[in-house]
Amino acid sequence: MKIQQNISLKDYNTFGIDAKARFFIEINNINDLKEALQLDGHPEIFIISGGSNMLITKDIEALVLYINIKGIEVLTQDDDTITLKAMAGENWHQLVLWTLQKGYGGLENLSLIPGNTGTAPIQNIGAYGVELKDSFVSCEAMKIENQTIKSFNKEDCKFGYRDSYFKNEGKGRYIIVSVTLQLTKRNHKINMSYGAIEAELGKKTIDRPTPTNISNAVISIRKSKLPDPAKLGNSGSFFKNPVINQAKFDTFTKDHPDAPYYKVSSNAYKIPAGWLIEQCGFKGKRFGDAGVHKHQALVLVNHGKATGAEILKLAQRIIESVRDKFFITIHPEVNIIK
Ligand code: EPU
Repeated sequence: MKIQQNISLKDYNTFGIDAKARFFIEINNINDLKEALQLDGHPEIFIISGGSNMLITKDIEALVLYINIKGIEVLTQDDDTITLKAMAGENWHQLVLWTLQKGYGGLENLSLIPGNTGTAPIQNIGAYGVELKDSFVSCEAMKIENQTIKSFNKEDCKFGYRDSYFKNEGKGRYIIVSVTLQLTKRNHKINMSYGAIEAELGKKTIDRPTPTNISNAVISIRKSKLPDPAKLGNSGSFFKNPVINQAKFDTFTKDHPDAPYYKVSSNAYKIPAGWLIEQCGFKGKRFGDAGVHKHQALVLVNHGKATGAEILKLAQRIIESVRDKFFITIHPEVNIIK
């Protein structure tokens, strides 16, 4: 385990923000993690892994631990299902592709989501009608306080829309080291609830899709709307889609009858933040190197040299505009590191 100093984090966060880590340790196994947490004086720590869901707005004074623990292991299987454990540092999309190559179903709708496996449970990653929780069995996490490993089952994780225990009561207390998933080997649960997937498969006249067909459809939809972080820095959806109650929804639709929405329960409606932001005129706009993506207004982008503070300023400007025009407050989905 090597302690490095004054390391640029540009290549460690998908926004491509050039902030510095005063101290930086690459963690390759559980022992490294234990050792780092037991360093003299127990320095304050900052965890980074795929770096795909954070906006760093300043240099990091805390000890940065870069979680790069690799490995995929099959735990159990029968004719129908397989349970496998992936270590936290496995790239999420590479894991999805690996499962598809082996013919396993369950993760196909979650193709091409940036980030690593260990961070997937934190915000219960989701796309195209499927969330991590649908194939999640458990995860193991190291308790920062005493370096013991605790296992969390699905219930313990309290998954919600882009939400979990690790974003609430468990925040700052655990480091996820592995995730266990259960996938199908046959009778796959194909989810085509998103119109866009059906349309994409229709183009290729596929009517009985395999998980790989779904994955390919998701990959082409995502590529058409979402920028590739390797080419244009971004963190996926910057904001969560706001959820409003019936009374607010009634006023909202009266004023904006064309607005898209999803009913999530008898008294709750989700409004696409991308639509709200586009209506405020931000889609494709650029303020220096901080911008709003031209194909998806929910995504903020770094055109090159934007600082985290500049992107944050743009986000605040967007929040205010949406509030002034629609009386709806949108909240960042991305972790803002201040
Ligand atoms: N829309 C606009 N303008 C825009 C963007 C969207 O009018 O600039 C409208 C679309 O026309 C559509 C609606 O908003 O009617 C929803 O758009 P889309 O289907 O692209 O999905 P989203 O709600 O914007 C969510 C997730 C994405 C996920 C997609 C597909 C959140 C915050 N985002 O986006 O997740 O890929 O659904 O399931 O829930 C991510 O979390 O990083 C992410 C990309």
